[in-house]
Formats: sequence, structure tokens, C-alpha cells
Amino acid sequence: MVHQLYGQKTMRGHILSVMRCWLLHHVIVQLSICSLASESTRYVRYNDRSLICNSDLIPLTSSPANYLECARTCERQSNCTAFMFTRNSPGVQGTCSWCPANDIVNISYTPADPLLETWTKILGYLVFPNDPSIQEPIPSTLSVGRAVIFQARVPDPVTQRSFFSLCVDNKLEKIAVRVAARFNYHGDQERVIISNHKDWYWELAYSPEGFFPFSPGQKIEIAVLGRSEGFDVFLNGDYIRTVNRTATWVGQINYVEVADFEEVLITI
Ligand SMILES: *[C@@H]1O[C@H](CO)[C@@H](O)[C@H](O)[C@H]1NC(C)=O
Ligand SMILES: *[C@@H]1O[C@H](CO)[C@@H](O)[C@H](O)[C@H]1NC(C)=O
Ligand SMILES: *[C@@H]1O[C@H](CO)[C@@H](O)[C@H](O)[C@H]1NC(C)=O
Repeated sequence: MVHQLYGQKTMRGHILSVMRCWLLHHVIVQLSICSLASESTRYVRYNDRSLICNSDLIPLTSSPANYLECARTCERQSNCTAFMFTRNSPGVQGTCSWCPANDIVNISYTPADPLLETWTKILGYLVFPNDPSIQEPIPSTLSVGRAVIFQARVPDPVTQRSFFSLCVDNKLEKIAVRVAARFNYHGDQERVIISNHKDWYWELAYSPEGFFPFSPGQKIEIAVLGRSEGFDVFLNGDYIRTVNRTATWVGQINYVEVADFEEVLITI
């Protein structure tokens, strides 16, 4: 049976962090990266997506609660990376439930009931306002039941190709997943390629011809959900592929590499 964690996105915590980050960036001019260490309870609410569990949802509180009480309870559960909050209408109270991180198997981008919210625990952000090339550690490793969200703008004019990679370490040799937009590169015109690099060998998978959601100057979102089976890749809300060759690296992702994107925001 499939159970969905629905939600509505709130930008409050998000914007606050981004602003602090920008401030840091402007004050310390040399510092082009800023990573914000996580506080114990920072949750982001989504309404444009939901998480799919392959087990029954477990109640988080025994009686109606507000989302803060739910978040505190989630915080005390091992493997609680997100919870569902069904808001009473009208009111701040509601009921919340969750499934263990291991049972989160997919992301659904179907718009949900506005009274059903998904609250996802956020461990940190990386903000790169104007660095096209990035090789940086992430605030916390990706793990099963957790997603890395990469949001950026495609340059205008475009370069030959832009990409986003999740890597095991700073050597950037163990590339668990790379999502590349080839505008005009190695003979490829406007193709999306999902690849990985392991044991000195590249595995390349081409998305279908005609599927190319990268336009000059436009925003793009890449989401990578960690599962024990591998890395699920989503592009602008479309499920693209599960990379399973590098599945054993889900809990070992410590670095990101970005080439030729602008206004990069990485949330984990
Ligand atoms: C929590 O995660 C660990 C490691 O992934 C797993 O062994 C354990 O069974 C999980 N606990 C629950 C309640 O799912
Ligand atoms: C995730 O769900 C979508 C439909 O929403 C489906 O097409 C896709 O195959 C699912 N992915 C996995 C890994 O099950
Ligand atoms: C990856 O998935 C394919 C197809 O489902 C399967 O045949 C293969 O054994 C899997 N490989 C690994 C390393 O899990």
C-alpha cells in the first residue's frame, strides 16, 4: 500500500536562511560560499509535492497538535525525516503522522489538498549567488529517505553544458549521480544525461529525445531522493531515473559539484 505525505511549502525559514547567507556573502567578500549549520528543528512545508511511503503512516501525537509540537515529536523519533500534517479547518491544530525514512520511496509532484501538508526536516543550505563553478562539501550527508534539492537558473546565453553532481568526497572521482544538460556538447544537442562515475568507468543514460526542460535564463529544479535501492532523480517535478550502480554511496555523499548554473540554492 502506498501512503502519501502531502504538504505546502513555506518559505519563512527558507528566506531567513537565504538572507543570512546573502548577508554573509556581502559582508565577507571573499567568501563566495556559505553553509548554514542546521539547528535541531528546521522544517520546510511543501504543498507542491508529497512523499510516498510504502508502509502505513504512524501517528506522531496521540491528540491534535500544532505543527511545532509535531516537529518536536518527529525530532525525537529515530529516522523521522518528514511528517504529514492534516490541518483542521479552520485552525492551527491538526493531526500528524509519519513513516520511517527507510520507507519513503518516491516524491509525488501532484498538487495536494491544501489542508494536507508535508513538513520536511532540513539540515542545511548552500547558496551560491554568482559562482558558475562549485565544488563544495554539503552541510550533512544525504541518507535514505532524504532528498537534496538543487535550484538554479540556466545561464543566458547557455554554455556547452551545465551539470550538477553528488560526489563521495573532494576528489570528485566517485560521482554517485550527475545530471547534465548538454546544450551543444560532444555531438549532443539539447540532451539530458544522467550519469555516474565509479571504478574509473562512466555510466551514461540519455533521457528521451525532445525532453529538455533547460531554457536560457529559466529556473530549474533537480531533486535527488536517497533510497537503499539507489538515487531517484527528478527534474522539474518529473521522475527521470533511479541510479542504482552507486546505491551503496547514498549515505556517503559529502560533496557537490556544479558547472555553469547561476543563482544556485542547494537544500538538504
Ligand atoms: C532506522 O534506520 C536504520 C538504518 O537505516 C535501520 O536499521 C532501522 O531499522 C530504522 N528504524 C526504523 C524504526 O525504521
Ligand atoms: C515515482 O512515481 C512516479 C509516478 O508519480 C512513477 O512514474 C515512478 O516510476 C516512481 N519511481 C519509482 C522509483 O518508483
Ligand atoms: C539495477 O537495476 C537493474 C534493473 O532493475 C537490475 O537489473 C540491476 O541488478 C540493479 N543493479 C544494482 C547494482 O542494484
